Amino acid sequence: MSVLLTNIGELVTNDPEHGAGTSDVGVVPRGAVVIEEGRIAWTGTASTAPAADTRIDLEGRCALPGFVDSHSHTVFAGDRSAEFAARMTGAPYTGGGIATTVAATRAATEDALRERGRSLVSEMLAQGTTTVEIKSGYGQDVATEARMLRIARELTPETTYLGAHTVPAEYADRRAAYLDLVTGPMLAACAPHARWVDVFCEPAAPTAFDEDESRAVLAAGLRTGLLARVHGNQLSAGPGVRLAVEVGAASVDHCTHLTDADVDALAGTWSGPARTSMSGTSMPGTVATLLPAVEFSTRSPYPDARRLLAAGVPVALATDCNPGSGYSSSMPFVVALAVREMRMSPDEALWSATAGGALALRRDDVGHLRVGARADLTVLDAPSRLYLAYRPGVPLVAQVWKDGIARRQVRRGRRLPASNVSD
Ligand code: NIG
Ligand code: FE
Repeated sequence: MSVLLTNIGELVTNDPEHGAGTSDVGVVPRGAVVIEEGRIAWTGTASTAPAADTRIDLEGRCALPGFVDSHSHTVFAGDRSAEFAARMTGAPYTGGGIATTVAATRAATEDALRERGRSLVSEMLAQGTTTVEIKSGYGQDVATEARMLRIARELTPETTYLGAHTVPAEYADRRAAYLDLVTGPMLAACAPHARWVDVFCEPAAPTAFDEDESRAVLAAGLRTGLLARVHGNQLSAGPGVRLAVEVGAASVDHCTHLTDADVDALAGTWSGPARTSMSGTSMPGTVATLLPAVEFSTRSPYPDARRLLAAGVPVALATDCNPGSGYSSSMPFVVALAVREMRMSPDEALWSATAGGALALRRDDVGHLRVGARADLTVLDAPSRLYLAYRPGVPLVAQVWKDGIARRQVRRGRRLPASNVSD
């Protein structure tokens, strides 16, 4: 059974065959896509498209690879809107509010956690996100961390063990004992449900972890077969980037405060001699994942994306959707922030929200529409990809395809101007 999506005003492929690089998203004007068995079978100009069993006319709309949101915390309980309001009138973000969510998450039923996770992932899908990563980290005891990850696994294969999010209050005077738990019994209970291990490496936050503690957490996860990613350099130019590079993390996330040495270290992972992991296999580099919805919601300076791009560091964009530092599930909002506030070009931002996210998750089957990719596509009720940043806050997603199946028909029937429609 094959499906032809045709009369696409602008098809974004991220395919080098169509000219894509990190600042060129491989656009085919008046494009078409053939989907077969949930995969991309063909892309090109509509006038040269092969026949298929079903033909769907997109009436000049823009189609792009589904967004890859490589950083979220969407399984939790409780509400911290008052903390947000306090920040908007001057209170700083310190990470201290995480304890509020930990208390609510521990107290919640499994069904309530599942419902919250499902509804946020469905909210993401409606906004064009077809791949999402979800972390634990609001349990901070063995049972609740494992429960969060079991639920996250029902929602996505990209699950991350973040037992080392903060030191919970009951361990405040016994940090070493909490680290023993995180690297011992908690890791053992969580690893079967996780692909990744993460740590909030931030010496500037008293409840987060310093360099040595963070190294111990990542090393234990790596020994168990998990892959590493790091929360780093959010509140200060701390050791997060250095450590992420040292352990071969796929990504270091936030990167709000970077030294020149941090930027050089990240760039070196992509240009230097091939690196070898602890198990002897060759390691790809470390992506810088920027989370501008957090700077928006914590009223902080935005990361310097241009400095990273100028140094040749691949940049991913993600929401970090969580109840504390930023509660947006919207990748279109993140793209608009990246363009307006971080001076990324619209195409750089779009690449980072799709192919960049895939690179940060070490996935080559998503984030692009090359032949063989998963048929994950987002169709915009707009003639061009530029509308993502040009019309911020407007629900532009008309349709979402995941694994070749139309999962969301969010808006229907609004015809685009005839000038955008071609045969
Ligand atoms: O990625 N920085 C640490 N963790 C989350 C925030 C969690 C929270 O405040 O609840 C983040 O920003
Ligand atoms: Fe986070």
